Amino acid sequence: MPARPPEWTSGVKGSRVSVMNVLITGASGFVGRAVTSEVVRAGHSVRALVRRPPHEAGGPVAWVPGSILAPEALREAARGCEAVIHLVGIIGEVGDQTFERVHHEGTLRVLEACQSAGVGRWIHMSALGTRPGAVSRYHRTKWAAEEAVRGSGLRWTIFRPSVIYGPGDGFVNLFERMSRWSPVLPLIGRRTARLQPVPVELVARAFACALDTGMAIGKTYDLCGPDRLTLAEILATILRVTGRRRLRIPLPRAVAQVQARLLEAIYPSLLGRAAPLSRDQLLMLDEDNLGDPAPAQRDLGIDSVPFEAGIRRFLG
Ligand SMILES: NC(=O)c1ccc[n+]([C@@H]2O[C@H](COP(=O)([O-])OP(=O)(O)OC[C@H]3O[C@@H](n4cnc5c(N)ncnc54)[C@H](OP(=O)(O)O)[C@@H]3O)[C@@H](O)[C@H]2O)c1
Repeated sequence: MPARPPEWTSGVKGSRVSVMNVLITGASGFVGRAVTSEVVRAGHSVRALVRRPPHEAGGPVAWVPGSILAPEALREAARGCEAVIHLVGIIGEVGDQTFERVHHEGTLRVLEACQSAGVGRWIHMSALGTRPGAVSRYHRTKWAAEEAVRGSGLRWTIFRPSVIYGPGDGFVNLFERMSRWSPVLPLIGRRTARLQPVPVELVARAFACALDTGMAIGKTYDLCGPDRLTLAEILATILRVTGRRRLRIPLPRAVAQVQARLLEAIYPSLLGRAAPLSRDQLLMLDEDNLGDPAPAQRDLGIDSVPFEAGIRRFLG
């Protein structure tokens, strides 16, 4: 273990924290970029395990090339770290990047590397809706990962966000882009299903605060915004903020199924990336995705903004 740097004042909520060496997986992703910036801003030293390190060298982050499925790279990355923030996850399967392999097996591999490197603290990215026997494979494999974390003997904290929005997200931005050229927007999933969108800045702050908050150890927190919205209400808000008028038409279930099946056949094999809509996502869009923001607000001192104000920051 490297010598720990002296205590310092972070500036985050004026709290006094220890500088830690923190390994972040998934640091190059939409959420990972925000979490990494926030952890760096809190003064910690960050090592980021990524499959494709950025070209530009230097900066405050040490980029370590590797997959979470490659034990050797993981052992190297975990050496000398006091904490890990495990963010890697997928929303669609491509080749051998299956839900089971990435969510469950990948988490087991990172846990093993952390255990053998003596990393004590684990902050885990799960998802709202994760539970035993969930209908979607996304949620079932996230549950298996959570179970592995709880049984690991590490000092863990688990976060379960609802859908996360912000610059570069794959949700609000997807519908915003679609509304630029399309006269109609599809309403997919059960019409009364509600989501509680949460801004990426809040998610990033929650992860960074948890590093320094002993009270968060052994706890599972929902991360969600103040508004409980159907997809129709979310689309109406996006249109209001962008000043556009578009028809919103429910996509019949059978049509959505066929469309998802087609996209799943085309995207991974021809374009090498996950389909923008999958049958697993359709199952999730039939469910409410609601949580209780109060415990994270209370323990971590984080607070959300209403959805409309949140998306105005980057769409308006
Ligand atoms: N976005 C949401 O609304 C939302 C809601 C709830 C929970 N979450 C969870 O939040 C996490 C991050 O989501 P996101 O939206 O930021 O997704 P994202 O933009 O797709 O980022 C995923 C990250 O995981 C990395 N990754 C994938 N497979 C890997 C592997 N085998 N080895 C190493 N790195 C790998 C990706 O790196 P590459 O660039 O190499 O692919 C990328 O950095 C996921 O666990 C997701 O389930 C997201």
